[in-house]
Amino acid sequence: MRRFTWSMSSTSVSSSNSYSQTFQQLPGAIIIGVRKGGTRALIDMLSLHSGVAVSQKEVHFFDLQKNYEKGLPWYVSQMPYAFPDKLTIEKTPAYFTDVHTPERIHQMNPDIKLLLIVREPTLRMISEYTHAFHNRLRIQKQYMSINDFLLKDGEIKLKCIALNRSLYYVHMQNWLEYFPLDSFHIVDGDELIRKPWQEINKVERFLKLEPQINSSYFYFNETKGFYCLKDHGQEQCIRESKGRAHPYVAPAILEKFYQYFHEPNKKFFSLVSRTFNWS
Ligand SMILES: *[C@@H]1O[C@H](CO)[C@@H](O)[C@H](O)[C@H]1NC(C)=O
Ligand SMILES: *[C@@H]1O[C@H](CO)[C@@H](O)[C@H](O)[C@H]1NC(C)=O
Ligand SMILES: *[C@@H]1O[C@H](CO)[C@@H](O)[C@H](O)[C@H]1NC(C)=O
Repeated sequence: MRRFTWSMSSTSVSSSNSYSQTFQQLPGAIIIGVRKGGTRALIDMLSLHSGVAVSQKEVHFFDLQKNYEKGLPWYVSQMPYAFPDKLTIEKTPAYFTDVHTPERIHQMNPDIKLLLIVREPTLRMISEYTHAFHNRLRIQKQYMSINDFLLKDGEIKLKCIALNRSLYYVHMQNWLEYFPLDSFHIVDGDELIRKPWQEINKVERFLKLEPQINSSYFYFNETKGFYCLKDHGQEQCIRESKGRAHPYVAPAILEKFYQYFHEPNKKFFSLVSRTFNWS
């Protein structure tokens, strides 16, 4: 692995507007994952805060070797132009499960703030299936059934990567090798759907932003059964799988998974010193 050295002076780029100088700067906070946890909803909500600038696309700097090799100046060039007092935030959900990323982010800035959003692990896994299923559908390809995705000969497929991604403690252990627990704030993705402003207020506190985003930023769409953001150009709602219905999974199969995740969940709770409302 090549190593890079850089000076801070080369990591911010200014625009040439002579009246209001905006800059591209390194993020002060990163949303590291988890996939299908609600990272898009989270960054969209944070983008409404006047103290925040967000990168619109997933940057994949630390997890993709070909990007990492381009160095920090490239990373900065992916960031939004903003006034220097703004907090820049990027999100790449693949970071959470990538083995190289924690060390690399730590090398860049050991004091960076890390946001992780998690959901109940079985639900998250099914959401990942739904996402893959619709991606295949879009290119007119078939995809395996949900039961084939989850099970082999009636047993849980332990080698399934989506299952592994829901073993939050496995990945969290790796992060905690490099960062203390107070570098992280964990957002409850299920609560973010139910009462978005309550979860966002906690994020504001963690990021030391003034409290701004309250219930008046949202309205409840009765038809959809979700909260949506007001004044967000196109209608933007907080919903699972971009509003796609999850496939039917028999209660007995769900129960198998709830039981399977029980121990891994306990390990995760103990690592992060808090619990979530999962079965
Ligand atoms: C999950 O994946 C990680 C690598 O991301 C690996 O180290 C670990 O052994 C896997 N765990 C299980 C139970 O498959
Ligand atoms: C939300 O915040 C705005 C100003 O940022 C304020 O005018 C409004 O009264 C607040 N609404 C609630 C429900 O607290
Ligand atoms: C609520 O959602 C429905 C169904 O998607 C949509 O047709 C309707 O326009 C939405 N209502 C509002 C007030 O946004």
